[in-house]
Amino acid sequence: MSHFQYQNDELYCEDVPVAQLVEEFGTPLYVYSKKTLLEKLNDIQTAFAEVEPVICYSVKANGNLSLLKVMNDAGSSFDVVSGGELYRVREAGGDTTRVVFAGVGKTDAEIRFALESNILMFDVESEAELDAISAIAADMGVIGPVALRLNPDVDAKTHSKTTTGKKGNKFGMDIERASELAKKVLADPHLALKGIHMHLGSPILTTDPYAQAVKKAIDVVAEYRNEGHEIDWINLGGGFGISYKHDEGLPASEYAKVIVPGVKEAKCRLALEPGRYIAGNSGILVTQVVFTKREGGKLFIIQDGGMTDLVRPAMYDSFHGVWPVKSTLDPQGNWEKEHDGCEKADVVGPVCESCDYFAKDRSLPPVERGDLLSIFSAGAYGTVMSSNYNSRPRAAEVLVDGKEYNLIRRRETWEEIIAHEKV
Ligand code: LLP
Repeated sequence: MSHFQYQNDELYCEDVPVAQLVEEFGTPLYVYSKKTLLEKLNDIQTAFAEVEPVICYSVKANGNLSLLKVMNDAGSSFDVVSGGELYRVREAGGDTTRVVFAGVGKTDAEIRFALESNILMFDVESEAELDAISAIAADMGVIGPVALRLNPDVDAKTHSKTTTGKKGNKFGMDIERASELAKKVLADPHLALKGIHMHLGSPILTTDPYAQAVKKAIDVVAEYRNEGHEIDWINLGGGFGISYKHDEGLPASEYAKVIVPGVKEAKCRLALEPGRYIAGNSGILVTQVVFTKREGGKLFIIQDGGMTDLVRPAMYDSFHGVWPVKSTLDPQGNWEKEHDGCEKADVVGPVCESCDYFAKDRSLPPVERGDLLSIFSAGAYGTVMSSNYNSRPRAAEVLVDGKEYNLIRRRETWEEIIAHEKV
């Protein structure tokens, strides 16, 4: 269940009225529910328990140190894509020996840092990267643990900007090419092939792409074992979709139904890298209406949150539920429905770009200057993709736990925005 609920005509995060958080911390404000984070992680841990999965929470979805600590304390590991993310995991007290490291452009310094951190494995995306890991591992007198990232050529039927497992994407390598590299690893004393990695795209709202990928994984693992590798791991990446509109997300158990049998057949351990599934509906962005205006036959609700806080609508035309924090009408998570007493409006931000919007032609109750709005499903790829464009300070973040709450990132100041510049 969602821990963002309307009670007595106002929105609560767990047991705390969202408006109370705004009184203390202002807007724009990210509000996260610890209960939701833990329930979502637990969904995945339970659904895949049979194959003893290592759940590597994908730091890129939301890397706030407090969220990473919550994940770590609940038994999650981490998927990182940069030295900076690995540094975050270390600073949050995370166990780096179960970390997986993907990304097409790992630098020497990042590879060295990861080897020093004794990570579980690199998801290797090219021959050149394999050579770099081998050389650095040799120099350090260690063995580089690697998984080959395969491009399985599976269509995940998601947004073109977030599809990764189709031929022609920059990620991973063709299965045939990876076979040649596997032979090269066997002959290299500074490398050990631990498994294979695939990430199909994000968000994926059907199980079929995973079923296709697992099938391919079983064959590849058998081939590598025949050649003499001790393959332990199938890493199927992340990508599990969530409900942005109304109940379109699948429970983790549905994905497990098509993944677990294949992993068992391959006699492998399973790694997964979910980000959005855990963080997406664990967070909202709260903003305040600055003005409303009617122009060109339209109603515009102009609020203080913008594409600098949540870029997803501008970047991918993504849908996010929007609703006033105080409202006598509870849309019960059905954000597309045209409710009585509502009027269509565009919810836009203050940034000087036409793509700076959160909702277009959305049926909403009347709002006025000073009212608070909640932008839902903003916990993943929200704050991590925020920017200082238009010299806008980044939003504050609060983590709610029952009746308690803590500021886990304070609002940036104008002074901090220019702190690294010189005249
Ligand atoms: N593993 C790898 C190798 C990835 O590239 C990604 C996401 C994940 C795991 C986590 O995917 P998730 O479980 O969160 O779907 N900014 C876009 C999403 C980009 C995803 C990039 N890679 C958005 O806002 O929708």
